Amino acid sequence: MDQARSWNDYWLGDEAMSATQRASELFRDSWREWLTGVFSDNPKARMLDAACGAGAVTREAIAVAEGMKAEPDIVCVDIAPAAIAKLADAPVTTLTADAKALPFEAGEFDVLVSQFGVEYAGQEALSSMGRLLAPSGRALMIAHMANGTIAKECSDNLHVLQTLIETDIVSKVSDVYMALTSTTRAVDEEVEAFREAAEKCGAAAEAHACPARDFAVQLFADCSNVLNNHQAYRPEDMRPWFDGQRQAIDAYAGRMNDMLKASLDEAQAQSVLEDWRRQGVEQCSVTPITLEGDSQATAWRFEARNAA
Ligand SMILES: C[S@@+](CC[C@H](N)C(=O)[O-])C[C@H]1O[C@@H](n2cnc3c(N)ncnc32)[C@H](O)[C@@H]1O
Repeated sequence: MDQARSWNDYWLGDEAMSATQRASELFRDSWREWLTGVFSDNPKARMLDAACGAGAVTREAIAVAEGMKAEPDIVCVDIAPAAIAKLADAPVTTLTADAKALPFEAGEFDVLVSQFGVEYAGQEALSSMGRLLAPSGRALMIAHMANGTIAKECSDNLHVLQTLIETDIVSKVSDVYMALTSTTRAVDEEVEAFREAAEKCGAAAEAHACPARDFAVQLFADCSNVLNNHQAYRPEDMRPWFDGQRQAIDAYAGRMNDMLKASLDEAQAQSVLEDWRRQGVEQCSVTPITLEGDSQATAWRFEARNAA
């Protein structure tokens, strides 16, 4: 599945808004403080939220601006039309576009923001953001960090998901179900194959306390329910259900892989700054963000500022 399609499916599903909520809560204070400073300097700033999703940062910007009677001109861009659709009620201009090829002029924005966003389009896309910053412009971007706490959670999730994929656990459940419903013969062979796969998945989930473990536990509960009550379900309904479960596992693993690929190590983070400087950005920095109670950093905070 291509990147745009898989993100769009993500925004059509239930998980995206709870992830947005979590990210909003983590960084709300930082965004509010920074945006307050930015809008007091320039109440009519033209702002770009790159890879905006459902607008977690944009919603903060709107709230901050309303509170201080600022009137920024906000442009939100994302590759997924389903994400952009969630901003239909917001007083912003929206655009569905790949952050690798944004149709904006150099120096077009007074404010550039992104939260776990533009790096998904690749390091070069993040690097090319410097070009868009106007004189006196300011940028704040929170980006995924290689080996940070979120990346570690992604790796744990991937271990669990890869075991579900490698054991093809859903097909094993489907085989037991089909054997139970379509024949009168013993189903020992299918049950044995399922048990073997389930043991491997259980061990992987046991070893990694992460959200994919909860996902696997729910999958097992749903599958057990289907097997225990197989007479209540019709094979023609169950085939698409099993396909859907396999697709959900693949999509989840795909997102975790994308997130790990998007994560920047120290050298890559520094190289983004060098590119911004080459594009004429006057002051820029990158610092690790460590959340309260964590011993390890979670993300990179990129900041930039142009002189007048
Ligand atoms: C983890 S979400 C973050 C969304 C939002 N910034 C937030 O804080 O909630 C990553 C976003 O990047 C978008 N995205 C992924 N690849 C992209 C690309 N190449 N160009 C533009 N947006 C992209 C996805 O659709 C998704 O909305």
